[in-house]
Amino acid sequence: MEKSRPYVILSAAISIDGKIATRTGRSNLSSKKDLIRVHNLRKSVDAILIGKNTVNIDNPSLTVRHVKGKNPIRVILDPSGSLSPRSKVIRTAKKIPTILVVSENASRNVENLVAKGAQVIKCGKKKINIKKLLQILGKRGIKRILVEGGGTTNWYFFKEKLVDEIIVTVTPYVLGGSTAISLVEGVGFENISNSFKLKKIKKIQNELVLHYVS
Ligand SMILES: NC(=O)c1ccc[n+]([C@@H]2O[C@H](COP(=O)([O-])OP(=O)(O)OC[C@H]3O[C@@H](n4cnc5c(N)ncnc54)[C@H](OP(=O)(O)O)[C@@H]3O)[C@@H](O)[C@H]2O)c1
Repeated sequence: MEKSRPYVILSAAISIDGKIATRTGRSNLSSKKDLIRVHNLRKSVDAILIGKNTVNIDNPSLTVRHVKGKNPIRVILDPSGSLSPRSKVIRTAKKIPTILVVSENASRNVENLVAKGAQVIKCGKKKINIKKLLQILGKRGIKRILVEGGGTTNWYFFKEKLVDEIIVTVTPYVLGGSTAISLVEGVGFENISNSFKLKKIKKIQNELVLHYVS
């Protein structure tokens, strides 16, 4: 059963102090070279997954733009179905397959999002059951999935031990701030037991790309 789930790669750009955004939500930490690397990674996966706060704050396109290649399917975790129909991912949902993952309690706004071209997966009563979601995505032919945050979404994947690879770029910034989002949010682990093996390190000018595997 477990084997049929997609392979999960978690990717992010972090500051030296482990934040993925400033306290005001600015998150464009990567250099142009790093963005090219990320877009090469995007074109190698079947789907990219993010949480709804990242859509609301960054309004990303989640496409392959800095290199040539096919756009992966976009998967957005939005339990209440509250995304704006004006967000870029929804406005382009008729051209690029976009799956909205909602709970059984989702609002009627979901109908507006479907009218704009989004597909919907209902998965979980109030929260989203990530394990079940991965099984569903696996059955739809998704073999490799890139989790691109934010910190809350990342936590759910670590909590359920569903991360096979971590690729983080340490960028040369210190952001600070107790309310600034870290690579992993949520309640966190109690013990120091959740370890990964360092597979590769690459230095690109002022950045370090760290590649860990489970
Ligand atoms: N530097 C980087 O590489 C990078 C990458 C991505 C994002 N970011 C930054 O990260 C920040 C956003 O991070 P964030 O932690 O606030 O939010 P997030 O992870 O983008 O979204 C969190 C929301 O997604 C929903 N969600 C995620 N997993 C769920 C689950 N298993 N079950 C139910 N709902 C789930 C929840 O919605 P509900 O609240 O409706 O329950 C949750 O509040 C932004 O500032 C963005 O710029 C940085």
